[in-house]
Amino acid sequence: MGDKITLSVIKADVGGFVGHSGMHPELVDKANECLEKAKEKGLVIDFHVSSVGDDLELIMTHQKGRDNGEIHRMAWDTFLACTEVARKLKLYGAGQDLLADAFAGNVKGMGPGVAEMEFEERKSEPVIVFMADKTEPGAWNFPLFKMFADPFNTPGLVIDPNMHDGFLFEVHDLMAGKKVTFSLPEEMYDALVFIGAPGHYCIKNVFSKKTGEIAATSTTQRLNLMAGKYVGKDDPVLIVRCQSGLPAVGEVLEPFANPHLVSGWMRGSHRGPLMPVGHKNALPTRFDGPPRVVGLGFQLSGGCLVGPQDLLGDVAFDKAREQANDIANYMRRLGPFEPHRLNLDEMEYTTMPFVMDKLKERFRPIIE
Ligand code: F6R
Ligand code: MG
Ligand code: MG
Repeated sequence: MGDKITLSVIKADVGGFVGHSGMHPELVDKANECLEKAKEKGLVIDFHVSSVGDDLELIMTHQKGRDNGEIHRMAWDTFLACTEVARKLKLYGAGQDLLADAFAGNVKGMGPGVAEMEFEERKSEPVIVFMADKTEPGAWNFPLFKMFADPFNTPGLVIDPNMHDGFLFEVHDLMAGKKVTFSLPEEMYDALVFIGAPGHYCIKNVFSKKTGEIAATSTTQRLNLMAGKYVGKDDPVLIVRCQSGLPAVGEVLEPFANPHLVSGWMRGSHRGPLMPVGHKNALPTRFDGPPRVVGLGFQLSGGCLVGPQDLLGDVAFDKAREQANDIANYMRRLGPFEPHRLNLDEMEYTTMPFVMDKLKERFRPIIE
């Protein structure tokens, strides 16, 4: 324990209202009550409870570092308490992301998504917490690449001497459980081979080459891989530090003005545009979507979360929302055909194995 602050975002779907679309206010109240107790005990410095779609998001600051057992247990217990409320109200999928029966030291691998970064708070510390629903961790690959490696998005890469060296991208291979770090811009083409396949390779962390400091971190859990069957997508979180040698707030938000296609819409089995929205519109209804992203901005002050500012609610993203609706219309017209529906290898946790099994005797060689 030192002067460093840890910003932890731990999230789980512990029950939807209605169906998988949104959050019941009683769950938010219960989470606030649990975190208030943790604050009184001095376990956390500050917190903000939020939600996107059916995902409950615990945004917390403390001084215990990443992967801290006490913090993770408190988050787990909070989700359990919220699950109890969800069960009482018979909310949909109560406790759905709590895969384990009992807490085992670290919530990673137990269902909830975890994004944590530890750093020395700068003179002024602007951070943005992005939270998405109806998509998967790889959804951040495109915006992270734009923020930290694309000079057409981030002029700071060209004109700010503190950013000009570029950034290190730590990429995780979710299938093999391996990681590799790329130095951009020099290794951009190598990196793109991998991060262009967001269902398989995810950008976990981004570091400044100038300072070695953490600049961004994301959740990379894949529930299906943990559970061995389809249990929903892993609606992800991304934390980005901004300004003073890191991308400006506007450079960090800019990629969301172009709603890119992500996986996870309807039954976790369809692609659709990632629509940037203000918190009040984080309610994916149409065809259980389209996928949403909310961006909450905070200034940290001695670990206190000053905010949030509901950054993607800005009218400047109205056109992006309109474009996302146009893309959604177009994709919906494709119905059960790719690329609206996911490729077969991403459908392996759905009905595909059962249908395949049922029909396997009927498959004959083309030339008999
Ligand atoms: C997508 C999602 C929903 C559900 C769908 C079916 O990520 O969460 O689209 O997959 O509503 O849900 P169940 O199988 O629970 O009826
Ligand atoms: Mg759900
Ligand atoms: Mg969700």
